[in-house]
Amino acid sequence: MAISLPLSSDDAIRRTVQQMPAGYWDFVSADTKEWTHGYHSYPAMMIPQIARSFIQVIKQNRPGIGTLFDPFMGSGTSLVEGLLAGLAVTGSDLNPLSRLLAFTKTTAWDPDVLQYWMDAVASHVGALTVFEADWPTFDHLTFWFKPVVIADLSRLKRSIATVVPAPVQPFFWVAFSDTVRWVSNSRNTEFKLYRLDAPRLAQWNPDVLAAFQRVMARNQLGNARLWRCQPLPPVSLHAFNAMDLSALPADHFDVMVTSPPYGDSRTTVAYGQFSRLSLQWLDLEDAATSPAPNRLDQALLGGQAAKGPFAIPPSPTLQAALNQISARDAVRAVQVLAFYQDLDRTLSEIARVMRPGSYQCWVVGNRTVKKIQLLTDRIIIELGARYGLVPVTTVTRTIPNKRMPKENSPTNQPGDKMATMNGEQLFILRKMQ
Ligand SMILES: C[S@@+](CC[C@H](N)C(=O)[O-])C[C@H]1O[C@@H](n2cnc3c(N)ncnc32)[C@H](O)[C@@H]1O
Repeated sequence: MAISLPLSSDDAIRRTVQQMPAGYWDFVSADTKEWTHGYHSYPAMMIPQIARSFIQVIKQNRPGIGTLFDPFMGSGTSLVEGLLAGLAVTGSDLNPLSRLLAFTKTTAWDPDVLQYWMDAVASHVGALTVFEADWPTFDHLTFWFKPVVIADLSRLKRSIATVVPAPVQPFFWVAFSDTVRWVSNSRNTEFKLYRLDAPRLAQWNPDVLAAFQRVMARNQLGNARLWRCQPLPPVSLHAFNAMDLSALPADHFDVMVTSPPYGDSRTTVAYGQFSRLSLQWLDLEDAATSPAPNRLDQALLGGQAAKGPFAIPPSPTLQAALNQISARDAVRAVQVLAFYQDLDRTLSEIARVMRPGSYQCWVVGNRTVKKIQLLTDRIIIELGARYGLVPVTTVTRTIPNKRMPKENSPTNQPGDKMATMNGEQLFILRKMQ
């Protein structure tokens, strides 16, 4: 007689994931802007349905989980999904814009209060005059904004700051920030800052207030949905460097859902560059303790050059890739090493704050450098072994429409293009008991 033993939670998770239909994780036609997810663009945002599915899979197979952590929260996608699943959420990011977005998106704002202050701003701003002396003073202001746009943004900013009570202002600053990007002279289809070409610039006459009102209306719709889900579990946000989570307790969180950067900001996704215009317009109190907007990218993973001796973290996959890259370009290999040294420190910190038996859900892109693929999922799995992390399952998804270059040219030589990422690896690790 065959006896069926209860599955371990690892086996149950593996089985649940493997039984999902082919293409399940692609979410080709999913609405990625539902709830509060559509408030503001952000580079390399996680698909909300991925975070949602990860959380469901873990909750279904490991009852009793109550806390979720994201050490690279970005715009807060996994935190919003954690809240909707009834989990207390903790997130962290070095980017002050990320913290403004994550805070605003995980807060349920009273819709009537928002509308009242929106009407007040709309009537106040029309009657306001600002002078050039009231314009912000950051470098290249008039390169990135037309004078009439600067005047209108200055009026709008002044109105929000004077009319809207401080506790409600974050909601307005998020809409203001999205408006700043939209009305700037930068190309709206890129995350890096590229100025519109001359013919397009000549035609570019955005209506600042109309753009702001559109963003507010869209975001109010998302908020109205979250408002109806109250009470929401607690939210805790931080500005920690993921390489140093010493302010968080050990053995604490039940599940982690995160997507780390793909590589250093200079050659992959420039979070600092994306956020710079917004941060230069916003006077975020929180930003005072953060790297300056134009120094942010250097503070993120891989932002500092690796310093000798060049110890390679113990991953055979990383070692092999670095040897191959080094044979083609030794300088580039050292840059890549810096990123993985930082990632290794992060892994050790994350492992410390996660509860024994907890699950970590990762979304990573395997990028290519000098035509050598960096298998970051395998590298993390190999590095995780010494922090007591056991691989549970991995799936690959194709990226249908991520706003990322499909090719890049790190050498900036014409023709030296190479594929970056068309797929992502999703994998789950468990911290040993
Ligand atoms: C891929 S994005 C996360 C996107 C997020 N999942 C979302 O849906 O918006 C990676 C994030 O890591 C942050 N980051 C990079 N290096 C960091 C570090 N050393 N400490 C904390 N955050 C860091 C970046 O600022 C960025 O917001």
